[in-house]
Amino acid sequence: MHIESKIVHGGQHPDKVTGALAPPIYQTSTFAFHDADHGARLFKQEESGYIYTRLSNPTIDLLAQKIALLESTEAGVVFASGLAAIFNIIVTCAATGEHIISDDTIYGGTFAMFKSVLPRLGIDVTFINTADISRLQAAITPKTKLVFTETPANPTLKIVDIAACAKVCKEKNIPLCVDNTFATPYLQRPMELGADIVVHSMTKYFSGHGDIIGGVIVGGKELMHRAWDIAKEIGGCNSPFNAWLVLRGLKTLAVRMDRHCETAQKIAEHLAGHKKVEHVYYPGLPSHPGHDIAKKQMSGFGGMIGFDVTGGKEAGKVLMNSLRLCTLAVSLGDVDTLIEHPASMTHSTYCDGDLEKCGIKPGFVRISVGLEHVDDLVEDLEQALSKL
Ligand SMILES: Cc1ncc(COP(=O)(O)O)c(C=O)c1O
Repeated sequence: MHIESKIVHGGQHPDKVTGALAPPIYQTSTFAFHDADHGARLFKQEESGYIYTRLSNPTIDLLAQKIALLESTEAGVVFASGLAAIFNIIVTCAATGEHIISDDTIYGGTFAMFKSVLPRLGIDVTFINTADISRLQAAITPKTKLVFTETPANPTLKIVDIAACAKVCKEKNIPLCVDNTFATPYLQRPMELGADIVVHSMTKYFSGHGDIIGGVIVGGKELMHRAWDIAKEIGGCNSPFNAWLVLRGLKTLAVRMDRHCETAQKIAEHLAGHKKVEHVYYPGLPSHPGHDIAKKQMSGFGGMIGFDVTGGKEAGKVLMNSLRLCTLAVSLGDVDTLIEHPASMTHSTYCDGDLEKCGIKPGFVRISVGLEHVDDLVEDLEQALSKL
């Protein structure tokens, strides 16, 4: 089946009893046992079944299964947020005294967790540019339990060669986890390139409508069972209604992503030729250093663009304050176009030195291109740029 058809039908069937095409929302905290022995057997995992929604729930399981299918893998665990999903996979793979490697250009919340929270648990983190394969090889120690990367990376759209990273990780028997939030499985499937775990903030393109927070990890059955065992004790589960909203949002993922890509390409090309713009970061531009790798591992370049305005941070502020159609807000992957300033917003957890190391300049702005008409977006950007 093509990915477009899998997105619509994958893992989903009409309800056996009623024929309902849309999945039921099992909005319940608990599930009744047939008798005391049945309850005990479920708790001992001698029999499968539902106990309590923090442990599992049919609507949430359907979503986890569907995402696993879309990412070409076996199983998944859904969480209250993307960050909860990332925290869970880290503590599933690494314990006190052990070590992980992370790319240095990642979402600012993930960076803060790796920089400030994991060391408190005794988990060491080495930040490197995972696009540099020799640096990756050199950073691995006998204590390394996970390699974490994000591609395209938030916010600079840096591209990491997933297959090349996976090869190094396989040689050392270390799992590779890829945050695939920016691309979605419609544009990129890291498991097919050798990754072991994929993580998503479902808050973004999966939901697509900016109305929920959620996260998911997917991977092999055994690893996901271990992740679930920890997840149920940490308690960061999502709600059946949110899972249902993501299931509904997912149905239109392919058409939304096609439009996001098409509009973003046009806007990136327009900005690249603008005299008030110093640099455009978009993997669909041949000038982007990761363009060739992106072409190899993605079927489209996505809906995220970064650019440096002439005049630095102050000019960036004027631009953002002058926009009428684009909304000044964090998050991404929504129907609405959103614009933000990473250095003072999503990546304010980075110090100036870290920002510079990752190439995030003071005047760098990030746009999540929405589904408005491209001409209206260009016109809005034009009138705001004319204020600089
Ligand atoms: C690439 C990426 N990963 C993870 C997250 C965290 O997701 P959430 O906000 O759902 O916790 C974000 C949030 O912006 C993100 O951009």
